[in-house]
Parts: sequence; C-alpha cells; structure tokens
Amino acid sequence: MIKTKNRIIRTAIPNKKSIKIFNKLKKIEPRGMHGQFPIVWKKAKDFSVYDHLGNKFIDFSSTMLVTNIGHSNTRVITDIKKLLKKPLMHTYNYASEERLQYLNNLKSFTPSYLTKFFLLSSGSEATEAALKLIRYNGKFNKNGKNIVLSFDGNWHGRTLGSEMMGGKENLKKWITSRDKNIIQLPFPYPWYQGSSKKGFFIKTVNKLLKSKNLNPKKDISGVMLESFQGWGTIFYPKQFIAELNQFCKKNDILIAFDEIQAGFGRTGKLFGYMHYDIKPDIVCCGKGAGSGYPLSLVLGHKKIMDLPKEGEMSSTHSANPLACAIGNATINEIRKKKLINNASKKGELLHYELNKLKDKYPDIIRYIFGKGLVASIIFYKHLISKVNKIGDECFTNGLIVVKTGRESIKIGPPLTISVSAIKEGIAVIEKSISNNFH
Ligand SMILES: Cc1ncc(COP(=O)(O)O)c(C=O)c1O
Repeated sequence: MIKTKNRIIRTAIPNKKSIKIFNKLKKIEPRGMHGQFPIVWKKAKDFSVYDHLGNKFIDFSSTMLVTNIGHSNTRVITDIKKLLKKPLMHTYNYASEERLQYLNNLKSFTPSYLTKFFLLSSGSEATEAALKLIRYNGKFNKNGKNIVLSFDGNWHGRTLGSEMMGGKENLKKWITSRDKNIIQLPFPYPWYQGSSKKGFFIKTVNKLLKSKNLNPKKDISGVMLESFQGWGTIFYPKQFIAELNQFCKKNDILIAFDEIQAGFGRTGKLFGYMHYDIKPDIVCCGKGAGSGYPLSLVLGHKKIMDLPKEGEMSSTHSANPLACAIGNATINEIRKKKLINNASKKGELLHYELNKLKDKYPDIIRYIFGKGLVASIIFYKHLISKVNKIGDECFTNGLIVVKTGRESIKIGPPLTISVSAIKEGIAVIEKSISNNFH
C-alpha cells in the first residue's frame, strides 16, 4: 500500500477486476493492440492517472507523449463544451469559423516561413502526406526525381508509406513490394565511432550514392527524419544535421522533419528541429498538437503545400471543428502557461536527477539522453530483461513510464508536471533499479 503526495496504490496490480476487463478486450480486439501496462483508466487529470480501483499514478508518459498540456485540460474541456452547445461536431471539408481561427493561431505560433497547414487525424497520415508532397515535388517540379532517404531505427507510423520510411526492418517483413526508392541511411548513434565528427554524414551518404550509382541532384527528392530517435530520445550530432542540410540545399532536396513526438514544446523548444540550426521544408506534427483528440498537421511553404491540385489532398476528418477547437485551445494553453519554457526548466531538473542516477549505477546505466521533458535511461543492452522488470515495477509502485521494447526506459511527462512529482517519480525508478540489481 502506498500513499504519498502524488500516488495512491491500494490494490494488488494487476487486479482480478482489471484482468476480467483485459480478457474481454482480448477476445474482441486484435492482439496487435495490446502490450501496455495492466491498468483500466478511469480518469486522468494533469499529470495524474486514476484507475477504476481507486489507484492513482504519476504519469511519466503523457500516454505516449500526447498530453503535453496535461490530461483533461480545463481550457480544452471548456472549448469543447462551447462547440457542443452550438451544436457543431463535423463539417467534412467545408469551412468553419473554428478552422480559420485555429489556422490563424497556428500561423502566429509557428515560424513565419511555414505558410500553409494541412490538417489530418493521425501521425501516420501526416508522414504519408509529407511523402506524397516530396514525391509530387520530385515528379512535377524536378524532372521526376524520386528517391526518399530516411534513417535506420527511426519511426514514422504504421501505414504502408510511413512504415517503408521507418527504419525498423523487423516491422517491414509484411511488405511484399518494397519501394526501392525509399532508402535508409545509418543513424548516427553515439556508440558509432566518429558519428559526431566532421564528415560523418557526407561519408555515409557518399557510400550510398556510390553503391547505388546515384546522382543526388537528379535522383534524390527528399529526406525524412525524426527530430530524435524515439526509443532512446537520441538526438543527432549537430554537425551531422549541418552536413545533411548543406547536402540537401546543394542538391535541391526537400527536408521533412517528423515532429510527431518532439513538437509542441516537448523538448523545451516549440519544435525539436530547433535544436539544430535548420529550417525544414516540411514539418509533420501529431500527438501533442491535439492533446488527446486525433489531430495531426503538415506544415510547409505554399510552394510545396499547393502542389496537389484542388481535391487531391484531403481526408474526411481534415479540419474537423472539434479538432480545430481543441488544437486552438492547446496553443492558447501552451502560450498562457509558458509551457515551452517550463519544459526547458523542469527538463533541467529531470536530466540532473537522471544523471545522478547514472553516476550511482555506472555498470547498469549506459547513457541518459533527451532534452527538455523527454528523456531516456539507456541500460546496457544485455540487461534488457531486467529493464522490462524495472518498468513493470515502477508501474506497480504508481509510476507510468513509456515502454519501448528496447533497453531503455523513456520518460515524457506532461509539461505541467510539478517538481515534487518529478522527484517522486525518479525515486520510484531508483527503487526499482536497486531492487532488481542488488
Ligand atoms: C515519431 C513518430 N512518427 C509517427 C508516428 C505515428 O503516429 P500515429 O500513431 O498517430 O499514426 C508516431 C507514433 O508513435 C511517432 O512517434
């Protein structure tokens, strides 16, 4: 039994009552949906999650880096209620005042060179749309150049195009006709020798050009990259991105950043790419943009965004008025509560505490990565089974972390998290590490 400022655990976990619900779901849902911690969510407010048995957890996950402004945010709920009172819930692609208001707000919130915004529902749709725009540009503006580069280990979603851009080979086995013109480059993992040194990107790309006999100016239409590699919140060396940028500019290649996890303040900047000195041509957002409502965005310059003709780029739920009202309230909340700044400041505390853990367990923890309020504790690879146990034990002690399926524990709390909850959460992680290793 646990009762602290931020946690209450009053039942066994998992509990018989929960298991009944899981079993019923398992019967009627594909197993691909499953694999999360055994909790039946009852309600969630700010950085606290409550189950149906009266247990209260600290959320170090924002579900999956979604609830940046906190769960069940009051401003969002108020604005949803206003819209439901009208009442208005759906408009297909017809115009609404909510859509105009949101897009104007988005325009004033994001860098001015990104002049057009395409609204969708899921992150995978956003990266698919970016792929389509890159290909449109190559085909119609650049004499048919067609190759899209992305990176090993990166993740862009579960639809065909997004999964082909992704760099996880084990997840691509189902694809019978792979697009040979979507090619992954090696990711500059810090454990690769020389990855942060000058010339690493150029060496990597030149090797590819040579092996496939490619001319970058004639053949390569775009590059898609996650702002940091998800499972380990691994950022690229700055030098690597500077060389990538130079290479793309020189060869007229579009750069698309997948900001689906990193965007909307998570890393202590509005977008993760802002940690590199770069201006991407296309920016894909999701997760934090909609605070839990399915909303994703593609941002870009008019020259690129207007390539598809009228009716060639839309979706039934594009610019749904509810999504727009929630997206709008999300921006207003980030501004009003200065959440980007908060992510940066609280992120300092989070990383300080995590690095203290690393210093205490040097034979167990290999790296701490991340920026702002996203971080990963990377354990030595051979300890992976223990890492799963640590995550499970955190959970039964009232702390929800992000499961990665790798040798990492990932942390991404709502940007509203309190200092006491950060410290308490890290103490839970430490206790789980110490229980599993001593
Ligand atoms: C970096 C990144 N890109 C794309 C996606 C796909 O988004 P969605 O699950 O909303 O389709 C995700 C989701 O986890 C992601 O983290």
